[in-house]
Amino acid sequence: MPVTVLIGAQWGDEGKGRVVDWLARDAQVVARYNGGDNAGHSITIGSRVIRLHLVPSGIFYKDVACLLAAGMVINPKNLLREMDEIQTAGYDVSPARLTISHNAHLVLPTHVALDAALEKFRGGDAIGTTQRGIGVAYSAKMLRTNLRAADLREPEHFADALHKQVTHANQQLAHEYRAPALNADALSAEYYAYAKRLASYIGDTSPIVHAVLARGGHIVAEGAQGVLLDIDMGTYPYVTSSNTGVAGALSGLGIGPQPITRIVGVLKAFNTRVGAGPFPTELFDATGAHLRGTGANPWDEYGSTTGRPRRTGWLDLVALKYATRNNGVTELVITKMDVLSGFGALKLCTGYRYKGELLADFPADAAVLQQVEPVYESAPGWAADVSGARKRSDLPAAARAYIARIEEFTGVPASLISVGPERDQIIIG
Ligand code: GDP
Ligand code: IMO
Ligand code: MG
Repeated sequence: MPVTVLIGAQWGDEGKGRVVDWLARDAQVVARYNGGDNAGHSITIGSRVIRLHLVPSGIFYKDVACLLAAGMVINPKNLLREMDEIQTAGYDVSPARLTISHNAHLVLPTHVALDAALEKFRGGDAIGTTQRGIGVAYSAKMLRTNLRAADLREPEHFADALHKQVTHANQQLAHEYRAPALNADALSAEYYAYAKRLASYIGDTSPIVHAVLARGGHIVAEGAQGVLLDIDMGTYPYVTSSNTGVAGALSGLGIGPQPITRIVGVLKAFNTRVGAGPFPTELFDATGAHLRGTGANPWDEYGSTTGRPRRTGWLDLVALKYATRNNGVTELVITKMDVLSGFGALKLCTGYRYKGELLADFPADAAVLQQVEPVYESAPGWAADVSGARKRSDLPAAARAYIARIEEFTGVPASLISVGPERDQIIIG
């Protein structure tokens, strides 16, 4: 069982953290390979819900090594805050458990300030980013001006370099965006302390990955966001700034495709999106509100990073097929089947009509996708509470048929069905 790559097959928040937590039971390594603390991966253990933003979702198993691999952008301040929370909850986050790739890039306070300023400047065309500095940090990476995790190993040098970055960004903030300046002296002192704390976590993750592979061990590569937010395959410009799909796992972990035996695409039983951008099956009515929930349950559809209400809609099989096909997904995991209980009838989007024509494929072009009209087929709903189901045969016939239709349309079998956020609320096969 060498490498399992797990990706979000929609617009994020599919339940990836919950599924990685399940797959990590028999893994030696869990490695995050893209994004930063724009991600929010919630894991429920008993009565406790823990939201991870940067730390891999394997951290709750003491024998699993967790890697923050190359390809990620890491905010040192927020990483330390998250590590402290996990430690307070009783889990080890020492360097024995957690390694940060020296090649991972950093999200600096300048990036966060510029992300906010840029979003404000965009006005009505704002992307609706999480304002965590993600796009600005990846831009700096591509420009080859950014600081990397490796720089944290030399706190004095890092503090000096950050001082220069802040001084430079202040010119941009003032002249381009009329935004307030950052305090270079204070930030460089603050981040000196973060570098000191994190220095012993920085290392080369590649030997760890390849040693586990040489022993025939199991590595779970944990994607953040979802395929439809991928910088190359997603609904540009309403995307994030990384490769969220299987390609990101290869460059992040430093592996070829050969050791990958499973590509798991996680999807929610309906669709959600947070932030701007096209969403053909979006519902603006009581059904959409029902799918979102009121916020009373921890799993209701409110962003785990920003708290924003998520947009909700019927399951879009056209977009799902594009996501699974373009990533060679070998198995599906369907989450939140319990949330669909109680609907008289359900709808599945099986096609798009654009200017009167039926489209053969998913148009990633946001301008086209914005104008498509979804073509639906209806499916019978089910009244029963399915949260106690532990085998497919425990599910009502209509729920089994709904799953079978997803499998048939995508041509990919579902290996797990999740019927609740708790660890044991899962159906295998
Ligand atoms: P991620 O970003 O893909 O890890 O997903 P999030 O954690 O942002 O959002 C998924 C939410 O749904 C979390 O609150 C999970 O605890 C919850 N969740 C996951 N699977 C299920 C499920 O099968 N049923 C219910 N009710 N909640 C679930
Ligand atoms: P997880 O891993 C859902 C969205 C933002 C915005 C766009 C760009 O929890 O599934 P960014 O801050 O990345 O520049 O924002 O991407 N977005 C997510 N939506 N889940 C996420 O992560 C997301 N990470 C970013 O809302 O639309
Ligand atoms: Mg999330």
